[in-house]
Amino acid sequence: MKRNERYLDVAIAAAKEAGRIQKAHLGRLYRVEYKGEINPVSEVDKLCESAINKIILDAFPDHDVLTEESVFKGRGSSFKWVIDPIDGTTNYIHGFQFFCVSIGLEIDGEMVLGVVYDPLFDELFQAEVGKGAFLNGNQISVSRTKDLDRSFLTTGFPYDVREHADYYLRFFRQFMTRSVAIRRPGSAALDLCYVAAGRFDGYWELKIHSWDVAAGSLLVTEAGGRVTDFQNRPCSIYSEEIIASNGLIHEEMVQVIQAVVSSDPSP
Ligand code: IPD
Ligand code: CA
Ligand code: CA
Repeated sequence: MKRNERYLDVAIAAAKEAGRIQKAHLGRLYRVEYKGEINPVSEVDKLCESAINKIILDAFPDHDVLTEESVFKGRGSSFKWVIDPIDGTTNYIHGFQFFCVSIGLEIDGEMVLGVVYDPLFDELFQAEVGKGAFLNGNQISVSRTKDLDRSFLTTGFPYDVREHADYYLRFFRQFMTRSVAIRRPGSAALDLCYVAAGRFDGYWELKIHSWDVAAGSLLVTEAGGRVTDFQNRPCSIYSEEIIASNGLIHEEMVQVIQAVVSSDPSP
């Protein structure tokens, strides 16, 4: 087995195990704490995180692991796993059935593989750099919608939405009148995978974290789409703002965002 295949196998095993835990605990009573005013973490997030960490570190004890619910203790490894144990925790704790686990692997700063698993639909999204994007083993590609005017978009809001609601809503308002429809399903990783699969034409979000977008961004680019920051520059998973699209509507999305940003610089 080639080295890279082993990374992918381990990522899939970890994602499936986290998905099993998510499914098993869904709708049961569990403890929820708030990391901020409205930013929840449940004991299931922590269970998933421990299970993923164990599988990855048993296989690759020297690798670094960055996960949402723990303080990063990097050892300077050139291998860095970037993990969201549950993406869509607010949905999860309310029994709203749109959540997943997201696992990406960076080698020397380059995202080389991404796996996102939705346990309820049993949808496994996976991509390796240069090898395309796949859903349950079938290759996927972005949509062919050419005009923003015909587009179906998705977005999310950061957890400081109570402080900056008006600013975030300016983007939403502009896209609302420029697209066919917008959804706000509540899982950035799945938003990105749905762009990769051609279900959405585009996605934007501000103040996003590396673990939300690590795997999903690679899915989009490997499915033939584009991922940039709000200035239309190639973005890293640490950029904190993201536009992901089928490529064809990308320039129009950037223009809409730039018009908002220039009329009202970020708060
Ligand atoms: C959140 C979800 C949501 C997005 C937020 C994320 P979490 O992740 O991806 O869709 O709008 O910005 O923080 O907290 O459920 O892992
Ligand atoms: Ca997340
Ligand atoms: Ca999370």
